[in-house]
Amino acid sequence: MAVGAQRLENAGASVRASHVTRSFGTGAARMVAVNDLSLTISPGAVVALRGASGSGKSTLLHLLAGIERPDSGELIVAEVDLGRATRRHLTQHRRRVGLIFQRFHLIPAMSVLDNVLAPVIPVRVSFDKVARARELLAAVGLAGRESAAPTQLSGGQQQRVAVARALIGAPALILADEPTGSLDSATGAEIMDLLLRVAAERSTTMVIATHDEGVANACDYIISMRDGQIMADEAVRSA
Ligand SMILES: Nc1ncnc2c1ncn2[C@@H]1O[C@H](COP(=O)(O)OP(=O)(O)O)[C@@H](O)[C@H]1O
Ligand SMILES: [Mg+2]
Repeated sequence: MAVGAQRLENAGASVRASHVTRSFGTGAARMVAVNDLSLTISPGAVVALRGASGSGKSTLLHLLAGIERPDSGELIVAEVDLGRATRRHLTQHRRRVGLIFQRFHLIPAMSVLDNVLAPVIPVRVSFDKVARARELLAAVGLAGRESAAPTQLSGGQQQRVAVARALIGAPALILADEPTGSLDSATGAEIMDLLLRVAAERSTTMVIATHDEGVANACDYIISMRDGQIMADEAVRSA
């Protein structure tokens, strides 16, 4: 399937997956998490991944992020062939991906500002890291909370910090794994609005695994997965 063809002019990553399979374990314990999956996503598209628990959503996100490698098939993300890339190129690829998780995954012993800075601490960059982290915190509505500890923040605020952290490396691709799954519906809707806004402003491609109908319907496309395969894809009609 191919989604997002109408959005052309931008800097977001493209995705081309062709017969990608990823399994875990061997013999009778072998579990095929992603099974002969083919998919094209155009730069700047916002795609929801739906499917029951165990259908392969997180594994697909990990493949796109360069955290897992395909066992077979071809996976090209942001023009990088992730099956064949050297470790160094995979590391470079991971730096161009912003990751957001259900349970925020902030480092509790670090301030909000340092959590946002964490991905770029080991990296030489051309911008002022601290200034950019402050700008991003302001952009997600957390100006003035730079010195707070994550535990002093609400769940929605912690996810805003995680969004700022995902943006610090100027990602071409944002991957969010059930980003509203730990939040009440009103707060989840706010986080979804924030993600859609930042992706549109930066022309970033975004893939969101979700169980939430509202989240899925706010995306441009919905891909439904079952047993590691794509069962259906549909363009979402915007009102
Ligand atoms: N690291 C792993 N080791 C073993 N099995 C795994 C691993 N990651 C995923 N799986 C298995 O692959 C299948 C798909 O899992 P996952 O991608 O997490 O699905 P989802 O995110 O849709 O719930 C599940 O059966 C899961 O148990
Ligand atoms: Mg999952």
